[in-house]
Amino acid sequence: MKSIDIVRGDITKLEVDAIVNAANTTLLGGGGVDGAIHHAAGPELLAVCRTLGGCEPGEAKITRGYRLPVRFVIHTVGPIWRGGKNGEPEILANCHRNSLQLATENGIKTIAFPAISCGAYGYPIETAAHIALKTTREFLASEDKIDKVIFVLWGEDVYEAFASSLDR
Ligand code: APR
Repeated sequence: MKSIDIVRGDITKLEVDAIVNAANTTLLGGGGVDGAIHHAAGPELLAVCRTLGGCEPGEAKITRGYRLPVRFVIHTVGPIWRGGKNGEPEILANCHRNSLQLATENGIKTIAFPAISCGAYGYPIETAAHIALKTTREFLASEDKIDKVIFVLWGEDVYEAFASSLDR
């Protein structure tokens, strides 16, 4: 039975097959959820990220989870919000589609996403939540390898935005 759940909390504590990191194009770590994931995974994560050659916005790359309680981390780079006329919606949708596609290629059955681009990258939270959930629903309708997608939301505002979008 496939499901999309939303929870409030710290994504580095989730015990799933894979968590998704809201990274930047260097893949060399940062603040926010990127910083939390690298801190929890330990130095081996950065060491392997150095070998990946970066990541384009909307693309996704996969590594092991190291000291995290997950087998994999899928690193994706969300769009920086510049007003919405620079392809931001498509890039954000691609982050979810490409992360889910990479998950199916690696036998991942349960995967957790943060609210990509909803922090430092400034994406309006309501529309980001709508794009994330719509893209995920469409992907899960098209294939049956993934059992559960969990959106792990840190702030109250982001949680509310995803919760109301999920019920629509
Ligand atoms: N667990 C879950 N969500 C978290 C956590 C955590 N431990 N820490 C932060 N968040 C939330 C933020 O509150 C926000 O809602 O993740 C969402 C995404 O925010 P950012 O981490 O700022 O990511 P983003 O907006 O995509 O900006 C990416 O920030 O950290 C840098 O290197 C990163 O340059 C990149 C940029």
